[in-house]
Amino acid sequence: MVKYKDLDNVSVFEHPLLQHKISLLRDKNTGTNEFRKLVDEIAMLQGFEALSDLPLEDVEVETPLEVCKTPMIAGRKLAIIPILRAGLGMVSGILALVPTAKVGHIGLYRDETTFEPHEYYCKLPKPIEQRTIVVVDPMLATGGSAIDAIDLIKKRGGKKIKFICIIAAPVGIEKLHKAHPDVQIYVGHVDRCLNDNAYILPGVGDAGDRIFGTK
Ligand code: PRP
Ligand code: URA
Repeated sequence: MVKYKDLDNVSVFEHPLLQHKISLLRDKNTGTNEFRKLVDEIAMLQGFEALSDLPLEDVEVETPLEVCKTPMIAGRKLAIIPILRAGLGMVSGILALVPTAKVGHIGLYRDETTFEPHEYYCKLPKPIEQRTIVVVDPMLATGGSAIDAIDLIKKRGGKKIKFICIIAAPVGIEKLHKAHPDVQIYVGHVDRCLNDNAYILPGVGDAGDRIFGTK
């Protein structure tokens, strides 16, 4: 991972396997089933890196030879929070890494003309203030949805927050970092810009529609 520009807390993935999988996502001929699988795999690869600072605790284990204290993830303290709908596609990849994590949900949809996010659902695992929180959404476009989701989490007491996306527009990264400089942002690939409909170029199109086959 490399730092994005001079922004502290913003990291961009460079691993060739991840870049390869993101390129497959972009292809308009990649169907729903393959798209979903790729999002799942990408999320797992991203989660592996983004969680490299997860706290460990020493646990007593009996090997065939002796009893020892050995480090294990203090996994019950993790919360994964997808931004609906498209973020749902990233949950299972990260849960595969930390199966004991709790999962919250934030429902936001972008107004098609103003591009402003609207909240329709929010349910977070308790006690949210004690958890490392991983917010996931494949797309960071204008940044509005991620900013609002993290606002909601902070209002409910969330503190240690990471945001993982697969593709981001430069404007979205800068806005999110400015609104929440304490949040660690992990980006699979930084794309060129937004089009007049606030879609990322070259992007993948509508991630929710491609994951759920709704187009
Ligand atoms: C998409 C995407 C993000 C948001 C990004 O969701 O999954 O949540 O747009 O755009 P922004 O950075 O400009 O806010 P959308 O609102 O299309 O909802 P969906 O996932 O239900 O399709
Ligand atoms: N939401 C998407 O699904 N894709 C984009 O390019 C922008 C927002």
